[in-house]
Amino acid sequence: MSEVVTRERHDVIAVVTVDSPPVNALSAAVRRGILDNVNAAVADPEVQAIVLTCAGRTFIAGADITEFGKPAQPPSLNDVIAALENSPKPTIAAIHGTALGGGLEVALGCHFRVAVKDARLGLPEVKLGLLPGAGGTQRLPRAVGPELAVQMIVGGNPIGAADALKHGLIEEVVEDRVAGGVAFARKVLVEKRPTRRLRDDDSKLAAARADRSIFTNAVASMTKKARGLEAPFACADAIGAAIDLPFDQGLAKEREGFLKLVVSDQSKAQRYAFFAEREAAKVDGVPDGAKPRPVARVAIIGAGTMGGGIAMSFANAGIPVTLIETGKEQLDRGMGIMQKNYEATAARGGIPADAPAKRMGLITGVVGLENVKDADLIIEAVFETMAVKKEVFTALDAYAKPGAVLASNTSYLNVDEIAATTKRPQDVLGMHFFSPANVMKLCEIVRGAKTAPDALLTAVSIAKKIAKVPVVAGVCDGFIGNRMLAARSKQSEKLLFEGALPQQVDAVVTKFGMPMGPFAMGDLAGLDIGWRSRQDRGIKSEIADALCEAGRFGQKTGKGYYKYEQGSRSPLPDPEVEALINDTLTKLGLKRREVSDEEILERMVYPMINEGARILEEKIAARPSDIDVVWLYGYGWPIYRGGPMHYADSVGLKHIAERLAFYAKATNDPSLEPAPLLKRLAGEGKTFASLAQQSKAAA
Ligand code: 3HC
Ligand code: NAI
Repeated sequence: MSEVVTRERHDVIAVVTVDSPPVNALSAAVRRGILDNVNAAVADPEVQAIVLTCAGRTFIAGADITEFGKPAQPPSLNDVIAALENSPKPTIAAIHGTALGGGLEVALGCHFRVAVKDARLGLPEVKLGLLPGAGGTQRLPRAVGPELAVQMIVGGNPIGAADALKHGLIEEVVEDRVAGGVAFARKVLVEKRPTRRLRDDDSKLAAARADRSIFTNAVASMTKKARGLEAPFACADAIGAAIDLPFDQGLAKEREGFLKLVVSDQSKAQRYAFFAEREAAKVDGVPDGAKPRPVARVAIIGAGTMGGGIAMSFANAGIPVTLIETGKEQLDRGMGIMQKNYEATAARGGIPADAPAKRMGLITGVVGLENVKDADLIIEAVFETMAVKKEVFTALDAYAKPGAVLASNTSYLNVDEIAATTKRPQDVLGMHFFSPANVMKLCEIVRGAKTAPDALLTAVSIAKKIAKVPVVAGVCDGFIGNRMLAARSKQSEKLLFEGALPQQVDAVVTKFGMPMGPFAMGDLAGLDIGWRSRQDRGIKSEIADALCEAGRFGQKTGKGYYKYEQGSRSPLPDPEVEALINDTLTKLGLKRREVSDEEILERMVYPMINEGARILEEKIAARPSDIDVVWLYGYGWPIYRGGPMHYADSVGLKHIAERLAFYAKATNDPSLEPAPLLKRLAGEGKTFASLAQQSKAAA
């Protein structure tokens, strides 16, 4: 095995280099290697200063997350950091790439830090349901002050080298990590700079010690969106300990908090989600050596709600886009909406002031499908009607250059049927973005029966390039996400006929952690769309129909399942809706019963899990974790519950199968009968996760 940590001498300076791909995570071997090499350098009489740096693409990206939950192996990270901090010779961290989590904590243990200009530094542990557990909550506030420390630790967002320099987190921005680190070390020696141990320097804590509101206000603003999460509050407590207590006591408090979180269900779910997201980008069933096709120029058809958002996602990543509409009016409208959207974000400080012009400069609006001819990837986002899609794909087949990937953003339609209208079905697939497409991270990549492996890889790789999270799905009605959503919608509608009210159902769903309940979501999307589609198909849904007949189309008409005050998007329960439900039930001869919150939760979540099991059986999704990624990034499933399939495993499949069978009988609904896969796993006492382990073992 090659050494994961090496040491070489540049004159009187020892350079200790971590080389443990892919991201130099702090495995036991890396910890041991740093400790031994630092100790050896300290003992070496020829050495006067020590530079710690990393080979490969990044500085240390943190603790090795795969080691959590396993028995701890010496040396501890705190021992490594203590060796750097207590070294009698100056220690310097020379940073490139990302110094994250335990990686930044190691750097904070050094007496000095320098970084290359595109380096990023952060403590993102909170995103894994953790707090920085190796002194980060005590040293970072001492390095940059409590306000920025709260933003970085409670918010988990890294900062760039320029900001790090401004706030005293690094001493210098350097050109090259090794040469820059060594040059800085020489400067320290020549100038005889006193070494600075952050643990001894409380100067930046003084203001918050005198006025604690500096700290509590920062925490309040960072925890506004932390509903349901434990870690942000634990992070804040640990930073509070840095302000209130001497260093060693603060460190002990931090340790206590870390040990609690690392075994919590929330952190387990969040760590699971981290790996699930990375796993999803790995495509099954692709021959070795298959590569994505190059994509330099993209065309998008349709500048409506979705086409505009998709175009913005590409422009945000610096990729030029041709946006195509049927007429000038539609085009101007679409371009105007994007422009306004960018301006609003810039006004809020979300993007630099010159970004709107730059990004709009990358989007060329034109009329006519013949304009796709230079595009390497074409994404269709026109109306959701098969006839229109077929017309568009027939034209694309005529105009697109050979080898261009042709994608449809359809929500439900059969991608194979769309592909069959072309002479190149191998180039056709689905790229299903979620609304608002410039914000939502999920992209379901729909693999048709004839989709070529390299076309599939092209879609996956470009999705990653524009900062989306790709998940491959097979062809079926609604793919992964919307198909499961439909199973839930059926139950939410039925619950109204049995006696629940929209606000009761929504409250249970939001209390569980979803951003919105099904009825508030219906009001947001517009109830008239479903109503028209039911009329077309001759289907009835008496309560929803009655609402639309009364002109209640949702937010756009100021009332739907709820009422909305002028200009407000907050749903208010409406007695008129309760009366309308009562009337409808009376007409149908139905009686309302008391529906418990427990039943609502089970009937909102378990049918989705059941549908997920069918999706796995039919191989629409390759792994249970792919389904979880869809729900985490497409529908706002609470990250601390890991996704529906992970949640199912944590509840226990036996219980879920029993409850589904119970509701199937009690509500006379065969769709609730447990799916064969769920039944089998429940019977064998297994989890969905065991399927993924099995298929890994087989591979
Ligand atoms: N431990 C173990 N494996 C890790 C890891 C970590 N900290 N970080 C990344 N990896 C693995 C990934 O799983 C992936 O493996 P794969 O190739 O088998 O799928 C591989 O490294 C590459 O990762 P990415 O695909 O994410 O590569 P990117 O270049 O897109 O991103 C990164 C690199 C920004 C470093 C990103 O991986 C990342 O954000 N990593 C996690 C950083 C983090 O959360 N650190 C804190 C850890 S907790 C901690 O330090 C506790 C301490 O306070 C005690
Ligand atoms: P939209 O109605 O807002 O926009 C469609 C646009 O396509 C219109 O501007 C229209 O002028 C244009 N168009 C129609 N025919 C065209 C043609 N032949 N050539 C060029 N442009 C043409 O619709 P929306 O909501 O953007 O939906 C588009 C697609 O995205 C649909 O397939 C839909 O199912 C899917 N989708 C929609 C989501 C949503 O929440 N709205 C979410 C995910 C997918």
